[in-house]
Amino acid sequence: MEFQHFSVMLTECMDALNIRQDGIYVDGTGGGAGHSQEIAKRLTTGKLFTFDKDPDAVAICRERLKGYPQAQVVHSDFSRMAQELKARGITKVDGILLDLGVSSHQLDTAQRGFSYQSEAKLDMRMAQEGVSAYEVVNTYEERELARILREYGEEKFAQRIARFIVQARQESPIETTTQLAELVKSAIPAAKRREGGHPAKRSFQAIRIAVNSELDALSECLERALDLLAADGRFAVLTFHSLEDRMVKQKFAQWAKGCICPPQFPVCVCNNKPKVTLITRKPIEATPQELAENRRSHSAKLRVVQRLADEEEN
Ligand SMILES: C[S@@+](CC[C@H](N)C(=O)[O-])C[C@H]1O[C@@H](n2cnc3c(N)ncnc32)[C@H](O)[C@@H]1O
Ligand SMILES: [Zn+2]
Repeated sequence: MEFQHFSVMLTECMDALNIRQDGIYVDGTGGGAGHSQEIAKRLTTGKLFTFDKDPDAVAICRERLKGYPQAQVVHSDFSRMAQELKARGITKVDGILLDLGVSSHQLDTAQRGFSYQSEAKLDMRMAQEGVSAYEVVNTYEERELARILREYGEEKFAQRIARFIVQARQESPIETTTQLAELVKSAIPAAKRREGGHPAKRSFQAIRIAVNSELDALSECLERALDLLAADGRFAVLTFHSLEDRMVKQKFAQWAKGCICPPQFPVCVCNNKPKVTLITRKPIEATPQELAENRRSHSAKLRVVQRLADEEEN
């Protein structure tokens, strides 16, 4: 199961986590264990918990982290991070990293059905269970398909593509990645097909996000992460999609502000204090050198916060 994986913004992520050798760290998205190995290397008495919901990624992480007794691999969705850690006796951590989206291993393994470039049965399930791309494409209503394509793929021709999908599947089910890719291409007016990469790229991204409930997992994790962070703990999130980046940005801003009073209130009555300091006001992007080496870095944005100590209760 050897594969090449270029971990996005590796140095920037390590700086962001500000790793203490005796600290407790969580990598929510183990993947090829690139970031996890770098964290593990920096620990002496510290601990690392590496999560992934893909059984293949879990196997790879176990293999690649086996030389690091300070690392433990957890086969779970990162939205369940707090519960899984609690079951292992951990209630506070010094750093959490999320490197969202699909791994190059998932993309490059044709039979996983993530790629429009290689023929495979439609699948795209990171966890290898639950609703697959086949079911989304062949059973979701036209309106829901259009919403997914528009919102998650920012696809201008969402409605047309959804209509083409529904018409095609009335003849026979859409079975494979290449069938879907061709169908998407045929729905996009010829003059527009060359805009923004392969014409099926946005639709595949959108369907993948829907299949894996990616925004729900992120939202759930964001809801719980603050309570998990020890004082001075860091939370670093690498996103590859404007919707994800917006969710992270808004949540971090809310934590940094503290106050949750409606904007029309003349003075604060909630008395909520800021919970974090923003380490990045603007997201960090990959260096020109990394951009030249790795296509995946192009849409990457890294945002980081640091937990403030809770005020003494009186
Ligand atoms: C971009 S890759 C991570 C690559 C990794 N940082 C590295 O350096 O090798 C994302 C990984 O996160 C996993 N993943 C995505 N969403 C997840 C979730 N909600 N829970 C657990 N794992 C998830 C995917 O299965 C994939 O293996
Ligand atoms: Zn307030």
